[in-house]
Amino acid sequence: MYRFAIMPGDGIGPEIVREGMKSLEAASEIFGFKYEAIDMPYGTDHYLDTGVILPDGVFDELRQMDAIFLGAIGDPRVETGLIERHIIAGVRFTLDLYINLRPIQLYAEHLCPLKGISTSDIDFTFVRENTEGAYAQLHGFFKKGTADEISTQQMLYTRKGVERTIRYAFDLCKKRNKKNRLTLVDKANALRSHDIWTRTFEEVAKEYPDIETDHAYVDACGMWMLKNPNWFDVIVTTNLFGDILSDIGAMLQGGLGIAAGGNIHPGQVSMFEPIHGSAPKYAGKNVANPLATILSAGLMLDHVGESEAALAIERTVQELLASGKVPDLSARSGLKTDQIGDMVVEELRASQEARA
Ligand code: IPM
Ligand code: MN
Repeated sequence: MYRFAIMPGDGIGPEIVREGMKSLEAASEIFGFKYEAIDMPYGTDHYLDTGVILPDGVFDELRQMDAIFLGAIGDPRVETGLIERHIIAGVRFTLDLYINLRPIQLYAEHLCPLKGISTSDIDFTFVRENTEGAYAQLHGFFKKGTADEISTQQMLYTRKGVERTIRYAFDLCKKRNKKNRLTLVDKANALRSHDIWTRTFEEVAKEYPDIETDHAYVDACGMWMLKNPNWFDVIVTTNLFGDILSDIGAMLQGGLGIAAGGNIHPGQVSMFEPIHGSAPKYAGKNVANPLATILSAGLMLDHVGESEAALAIERTVQELLASGKVPDLSARSGLKTDQIGDMVVEELRASQEARA
């Protein structure tokens, strides 16, 4: 019996999570695992109603879970980033979810905005460091609102944080066994604090002689992702660069509507969420594409050890996109959020019946 905390969050969060839950339910029936869903109604509405973002003791409760399934956080009614910092960053930091795993995979050629690309050309994954860097919340204002205002934000890297991220990336690269190439992306030429990434990467690489090591500065990486995406296999990078590059990666797959992610501490409770935001302008309209959330449920199942169910979910999404049944990933595809969720469930069941 798995225990999943379900946090729909803000904006389109509740409607996409509802569809993710349908796939989870179907997968549990097909693959014979059981789970308990523990509702966690945190987000902006909850905050505005109660004055509390996350209640005391919530992290003790979360530590009892096998995983957390999050929709999206962010709402223009409150101070920019307030709820995101407490919930998304709060969970990442407090539960020490030091890996942000963001796979970039093209499921159907027509979804890619680049010319002359086949599905096999876009198959890589980001390993984004998830608890340090520019996100460490070391910032301040001085003389705020005056002509002499100063604003600072420090990025910080620890040997422990950098090393465990790089190790995870090498292990993942080995496990994928595709191109066996790990690219370190940093900006060590301009930001000398990134020297810790250069050195640690070189040291850890010695333990993985079968993995080809590669390096790109972040600006060049952005360029290469568009020019030659089939070069990449696994990319390991800092928190901020991973944030930016993974949105570009999402567009290579066809859009944010398909891009799934996991905030992971190997072997411990981890959090799974689409990489897109709460899209307030589409909230409640039943038009947001739930596939990124459904794929995130797949990543969650993989994390808890239900790898067969995870693969089935991914194959199902692939089939719906490749066949054109889900023609595109935008909110203007003509398909409703719940229709796409139902199609996934139907296809999941059909493909399992065909196999049986
Ligand atoms: C993401 C998001 C978050 C981030 C925001 C909402 C704080 O953009 O998960 O990529 O920057 O990490
Ligand atoms: Mn982001």
